Amino acid sequence: MTNQTRFLLNESDLPKFWYNINADNPVPPTPVLHPGTMEPVTPDFLSVLFPMDLILQEISTERFIEIPEEVREIYRLYRPTPLLRARRLEKALDTTAHIYYKYEGVSPAGSHKPNTAIAQAFYNKKAGTKAMTTETGAGQWGSALAFACHFFELDLEVYMVKVSYHQKPYRRNLMETYGSRVYASPTDKTNYGRSVLEADPNSPGSLGIAISEAVEAAATSNGAKKYGLGSVLNHVLLHQTVIGEEALKQMDMAGEFPDVVIGCVGGGSNFAGIAYPFLRENLKNGKRARLLAVEPTAAPSLTKGVYTFDYGDTAKMAPIVKMHTLGHDFIPPGIHAGGLRYHGMAPSICGLYDAGYIEAVAVKQMATFDAAIQFAHTEGIVPAPESAHAIRAAIDEALDAKAKGEKRVILFNLSGHGNFDMGAYEAYLSGKLEDFEYPAEAVQAAMQKLPQVPVA
Ligand SMILES: Cc1ncc(COP(=O)(O)O)c(C=O)c1O
Repeated sequence: MTNQTRFLLNESDLPKFWYNINADNPVPPTPVLHPGTMEPVTPDFLSVLFPMDLILQEISTERFIEIPEEVREIYRLYRPTPLLRARRLEKALDTTAHIYYKYEGVSPAGSHKPNTAIAQAFYNKKAGTKAMTTETGAGQWGSALAFACHFFELDLEVYMVKVSYHQKPYRRNLMETYGSRVYASPTDKTNYGRSVLEADPNSPGSLGIAISEAVEAAATSNGAKKYGLGSVLNHVLLHQTVIGEEALKQMDMAGEFPDVVIGCVGGGSNFAGIAYPFLRENLKNGKRARLLAVEPTAAPSLTKGVYTFDYGDTAKMAPIVKMHTLGHDFIPPGIHAGGLRYHGMAPSICGLYDAGYIEAVAVKQMATFDAAIQFAHTEGIVPAPESAHAIRAAIDEALDAKAKGEKRVILFNLSGHGNFDMGAYEAYLSGKLEDFEYPAEAVQAAMQKLPQVPVA
């Protein structure tokens, strides 16, 4: 073995197919229900929000779905992304483990989110959509869709969670630079936003509220606008598998196969993106990679949430799905990992977690920033606070391997850079950050408001 640090694919190695877990998932899917009737949703209901190609991908059981050439052409601006061996981090930890990371922060918007944003904008353009709406928490998803919509000449309005709108003005400016309009949610532009403001004029907003506003704006536009979601749904996870498909080839170049594959989870898309192609290797080819999802203790949907049917948004307009949930009216503490503050989780991840195919751990904010700083000091990249959760878990795995004297091969997804997150780093460096554990009692209380679903 040489001292190779970067494992790079050629443009010609860019995957031609996304991998659909629905083809191999040993856990049968649970029905997606209409929020009003509580009956399984029909394509008609979904077609108010999404173009038909994306609806068909949502329910497809085809194993490999071809990536359109128009999408691959834009992927080529930043894909294939590099895989790096974190040699300096390994040395600092004095560990027997080998640590690899797949770096998605090289995309123009700075995270993995363009992998689906480009695809969603493409399918909308193809269906004749002129304008889209969306929400954004930390601003990464909004920036990604703003970039993609610009490339396909689609208008975009973004409902940005108010606390992030103020914490991260430069993310807002980036979206505006790409030509999108950005509103601090709750806004006075939708019925739902107005009702939230009436009850609490100082509401900091939440991802659930912003989703409700973006969905309402599309649903009441008489077909003029469609809605784009940055995580949770099957088609979003599908588009992200381009990450894992590349990583499989790159680990091969490195001559290793991971013992553990790690990703942070908000709605689950970057984790699924890297993990599902490795899960396929486990299921079909006898491999045994552990798959580890990492969440904040402040929004611990997998580790503390209840696995049941809940609404996808606060206003109960989005479909009801079976997932690990903290309750649809969850207002998270103002932690600095805005992208991990969703109340639920992608249903396929929840089913696989429940059945023991994947593992989950919750990490604290301070320990997460400690890991981010150590990573910046050793590898040079300042990670997004979301991605730093994966780094924390990777370091903990490496230290555990060291304690046990094991050689462990660790692969994690570095889902984005933190160059727009200096407010969070400033707070950490000046001692203003603290840990927060979401109380189990609050989860129990929220369960009183679950939809009464006949199939549950
Ligand atoms: C950099 C980064 N990583 C991870 C996430 C979490 O989303 P997901 O679980 O869909 O990957 C976000 C969401 O905004 C993000 O910005």
